[in-house]
Amino acid sequence: MTALALEPDFDTIIDRRGTGSLKWDRYAGQDILPMWVADMDFAVCPEVLQAMQQRLAHPIFGYTRPTPGPVEAVLAYLKNTHGIAADPSWLVWMPGMVPGLAMAAASCGLPGDEVMTFTPVYPPFLNVPKDVGRRLVAVPLSVSDGRSTFDFPAMEAALTPRTRLVMLCSPHNPVGRVWTRAELEQLADFCLRHDLSLCSDEIHGDLLLEPERAPFTTCLALAGPIQERLVVMMAASKTYNVPGLGISFAIIPDPERRRQFQATKNGLVAETNPLGFAATEAAYRHGEAWRAALCRYLRGNRDFLAAQLAEHCPEVLMAPLEATYLAWLDLRSLGLAHPAAHFEKHGLGLSNGADFGAPGFLRLNFGCPRAVLEEGHRRFRCAVAAAR
Ligand SMILES: Cc1ncc(COP(=O)(O)O)c(C=O)c1O
Repeated sequence: MTALALEPDFDTIIDRRGTGSLKWDRYAGQDILPMWVADMDFAVCPEVLQAMQQRLAHPIFGYTRPTPGPVEAVLAYLKNTHGIAADPSWLVWMPGMVPGLAMAAASCGLPGDEVMTFTPVYPPFLNVPKDVGRRLVAVPLSVSDGRSTFDFPAMEAALTPRTRLVMLCSPHNPVGRVWTRAELEQLADFCLRHDLSLCSDEIHGDLLLEPERAPFTTCLALAGPIQERLVVMMAASKTYNVPGLGISFAIIPDPERRRQFQATKNGLVAETNPLGFAATEAAYRHGEAWRAALCRYLRGNRDFLAAQLAEHCPEVLMAPLEATYLAWLDLRSLGLAHPAAHFEKHGLGLSNGADFGAPGFLRLNFGCPRAVLEEGHRRFRCAVAAAR
């Protein structure tokens, strides 16, 4: 691990207005603090920025293939962080995870076949299967004491002879679970018994808030024949705060599955871009100390938010969060007909749980300086008080 001369500065507030930011421009000209879409209000890791600046020094930005640099950086990351000895041929580069979800769904079965996923979930999991002519089978996660897990009896009951693929979010956005190895093994067994492929979106796999108690297991580490059914997708984008660069990669060990996946890409999905390759390489080669500091800061934000909510808004339940910077909040006890609109009226822009398949819930993005979170919480409290 590279050491940091100085702890990175996550406290400085950077004005993002007027930069075309999806998150901030949604509420342009209004006094609404945006804590919705999943990017962070932190400056990018310095080594990542430097690598992009170096690439900018070359004045041509033509269509770009992955050079050995990013490929070797990803392979070293897989080996060193996850203990996976991947072959370079397993990598398929993509201009983002969402196109990858579409490719995974389109490459399994035929039109009218089914994709199973677990709700609540990041909205594209609910929409993408339908966009590529598949039917969605949404099985609610089971929840006990606020902690979510797979509901295998409900999954068995929901299966039909046309179910072909399980689309997994690991760690899970929005409930913040890091699936244990045992849970993943049970899921792999379910897939094998029912002849299903498994697509695992692991974009949040480096944003770990409890790395000791809740360590991350990539599905690539699952032993046995599940390997032939796997499409695992990762990216440096979420962790290193460069999601606007549009770059991610799939790791597909089985050659036939990889061929099928790649076949859906042709002509429909764009190539990746040179700055994205530069950023990905630098993030995996030089970003580890920054990443660890980021996770410490995010853990502080999570703990601050959880403590404030417990003290001032005990009727709002926050799921215990093991990963991501996205707090999942159960506000059903407030009985609001339109919770997201109510909070906007009180100056706070949150993600609407209904879009994730869970009306009555909201998702709050705390990937921001602590002072911004404090202001967000102040507004949150006022909104809850007004709803009582
Ligand atoms: C689970 C998950 N997958 C994918 C994405 C988006 O990835 P991309 O911007 O690379 O399409 C997000 C963004 O929030 C996410 O949370």
